[in-house]
Amino acid sequence: MSEPVLSVRDLRVEFVTRRGILKAIDGISFDIAKGEVLGVVGESGAGKSVTGSAVIGLIDLPGRIAGGEIWLSGTRIDNLRPEEMRRIRGKRIGMIFQDPLTSLNPLYRVGEQLIETIQTHTNLSAAAARKRAIELLTEVGIPAPEKRIDGYPHEFSGGMRQRVVIALALCVEPELIIADEPTTALDVSVQAQIISLLKRLGRDHGTAIMLVTHDMGVIAETADRVAVMYAGIIAEIGPVRDVVRNPLHPYSRGLMGAIPTLATDADRLVQIPGAMPRLSAIPPGCPFNPRCPNVFARCHVERPAAIQRDTHRVACHLYDEEPFNTEAVA
Ligand SMILES: Nc1ncnc2c1ncn2[C@@H]1O[C@H](COP(=O)(O)OP(=O)(O)O)[C@@H](O)[C@H]1O
Ligand SMILES: [Mg+2]
Repeated sequence: MSEPVLSVRDLRVEFVTRRGILKAIDGISFDIAKGEVLGVVGESGAGKSVTGSAVIGLIDLPGRIAGGEIWLSGTRIDNLRPEEMRRIRGKRIGMIFQDPLTSLNPLYRVGEQLIETIQTHTNLSAAAARKRAIELLTEVGIPAPEKRIDGYPHEFSGGMRQRVVIALALCVEPELIIADEPTTALDVSVQAQIISLLKRLGRDHGTAIMLVTHDMGVIAETADRVAVMYAGIIAEIGPVRDVVRNPLHPYSRGLMGAIPTLATDADRLVQIPGAMPRLSAIPPGCPFNPRCPNVFARCHVERPAAIQRDTHRVACHLYDEEPFNTEAVA
């Protein structure tokens, strides 16, 4: 197998606050291959966005990477100077956020923004860059692109604006796209279109995609593999079919029992009793132990390590064949 586009190794992210150090990401590892969509799912506050921010080198203060490594196609990127990281963000990693207006400047015509981005990264003439921009708008499904290119962001609907953002992300042919809840703000019917567009583009361009969402329905229909996050760890990761059909971690089992389809505007909240702990109150042992239907003594004292089980990697003592040392409890 060729080298992954993104490789995250034992990543730790902390927020240093007056009340102490909060561990938002507590040792996660995953890869994304060329052309692959990795879905990252989990309840609000699980650490999905912080993981994406760490990869693009934009963790909000007072956050910091406290350990681990991030590699982009063989280049280590977690320890670069801000200027070097800015260049990588512009050129090698594309970003799509929930609100398209995070990425679009309302004061400029969409064409100006596309053309400027293209010209920053290529030596195309203005006319050639405009032609390329129209091609990209066509590719992302904007009707009458040779007219719409001269429109302002506010003249586009939410779904069309997100298509423009995707075109903007594609301008530089990035190796990796981080899409953080890209459809959450859109109508349900539009959500499915944007998701299938992303999936198709990833395949056509060989882009690796990290698709962050709290919506299992989106993951089931889009991702090749899925990482289930809970309180700063990856509870389970594996091929999407296997994890959806046969979830191993009790938390994934709860999530999979709550898959809404894209066709319904169902309440997307997970039906697992209890709530995810705040960062300041993560229990010792397994962070899921207060809510886990399968909890046993070991879960209260020992943090589960990730265990390979068939195609899954799961952080749960249920799957550990090592005997539990009861003396550790005493
Ligand atoms: N700037 C910040 N300061 C302190 N805590 C933060 C900050 N940003 C995120 N967090 C905390 O990190 C955890 C993970 O957040 P986030 O990655 O945004 O979750 P989500 O999975 O919903 O995207 C949450 O507990 C959140 O409160
Ligand atoms: Mg988030």
